[in-house]
Order: sequence, then structure tokens, then C-alpha cells
Amino acid sequence: RIPVITIDGPTASGKGTIAHRVAQALGWAVLDSGALYRLTALAVQQQGVDEDDENAVAQAAQRLDVAFQGEQVLLSGIDVAGLIRQESVGNLASKIAAYAPLRQALLERQRAFRLAPGLVADGRDMGTVVFPDAPLKIFLVADVRARAERRCKQLKEKGFSANLTRLLEDMRERDERDRTRANAPLLAAADAKTVDSSALSIDETVNVVLDFWSS
Ligand code: CDP
Repeated sequence: RIPVITIDGPTASGKGTIAHRVAQALGWAVLDSGALYRLTALAVQQQGVDEDDENAVAQAAQRLDVAFQGEQVLLSGIDVAGLIRQESVGNLASKIAAYAPLRQALLERQRAFRLAPGLVADGRDMGTVVFPDAPLKIFLVADVRARAERRCKQLKEKGFSANLTRLLEDMRERDERDRTRANAPLLAAADAKTVDSSALSIDETVNVVLDFWSS
């Protein structure tokens, strides 16, 4: 089987950055599965799909015309990499991510990213549902304040306004929703290695993952 390293964890735990850096070090591809939920949310907003209609949302996901090219995320040929990072899109993504028909609709799309020589997949259920046979599973955590501070900095760097207090509140809410939803609640796979990055730099965290892979 083509190897997969899964990196799951709560919002803003640094999964995306770590996934990209690990993939770069190994010369592998990356799957940002959260982007697929965000893209679905954006498509739902843009097309006026009823966000409470689980089947309509799943159908919107099936219709998605998506391509990842370097830093670009193309939705029907238009780069929406910046747009999908907005908190309004993230909040809708978090809501619809609880829909079983949507998760089902995205399953095969995610598995199609498993191409030689290997894949680093980041998300919530990469190790538990999408790639249960992955040879290395990481569960990346960090305390909520460290995550809110990182997200705040990231949003400001991208030119969006950001308020730490509100981000902290949103993050606690999103954690709660991720943990308690009936479909795919956020859980470490039984065979996952938990890594706490609260006090680690990006380089240190990447090295922890690479050490697990080479050992
Ligand atoms: O880090 P953040 O939660 O802001 O965003 P993300 O990782 O881009 O994911 C966006 C939303 O999709 C989150 O609310 C996740 O709960 C959901 N998601 C999911 O349910 N399953 C995945 N494999 C990835 C993301």
C-alpha cells in the first residue's frame, strides 16, 4: 500500500503547517481535508443552497470542481484559497461537517489523494475513518490559548481582522462541536501517537513526526 501519515487534531493545532512541512521533507503530497469542508461551505453560500438540508449540502459537495495547485485552491477555476480561510466559512464548515451524507460524499474524493510515493493527510478523521490502515497516525494537540493566538496571528498576516477574545470563544465552541457531534466526533485513533505542540516550535514538531516515521 502507498504510505499515508495522518495528522488529526482540534482546530488551529497547526495540523496544516506541520502536514505541509512533513510532506515537503519526504517529497510526498498533502491532503488538507478541512479545505474540502470549507470549499463545500463556500459553494453552499455562493449557490444559495439551504445549509440545513443535509442532502442538498452533500450534493453540492459532489458537484465541487476543485483543484489544488501549490498555494492555490481552485473552485471552478477561481482561486479561493483566501476566501475559504474566513471565519464565516470556517463556522459553516464546522456546522455542515456534522452531516453524515456530506462526510460520505467526501470519502472517495479524499482517498483519491493517496498517490505514490506517499501522502500526508490532515483533518479530524484521517486516522480513524478515511485512512484507517495508515502506518503512522499523529494526534496533534495544543492548549486552546496557544491555538487562539496562532490563529489570530495567521488571520492578521492574511490581512483579515481578528480579535483574540472572540477567537478563543469560537474555538471553544468549535472544539465542543467537534468533540460531541454524532458523526465522526474528534477522537484519536487507538493507534495514534499524541503530540502536544503547545510548547514546541514548528521545526520541533515536524522533527517529532519525522522521528516517529523513521523509527
Ligand atoms: O482548523 P479549523 O477547524 O479552523 O479548520 P479546518 O481544519 O480547515 O476544518 C474546517 C471544518 O471542517 C472544521 O470545523 C472540522 O470540524 C471539519 N473537518 C472535518 O469534519 N473532518 C475533516 N477531516 C476535516 C475538517
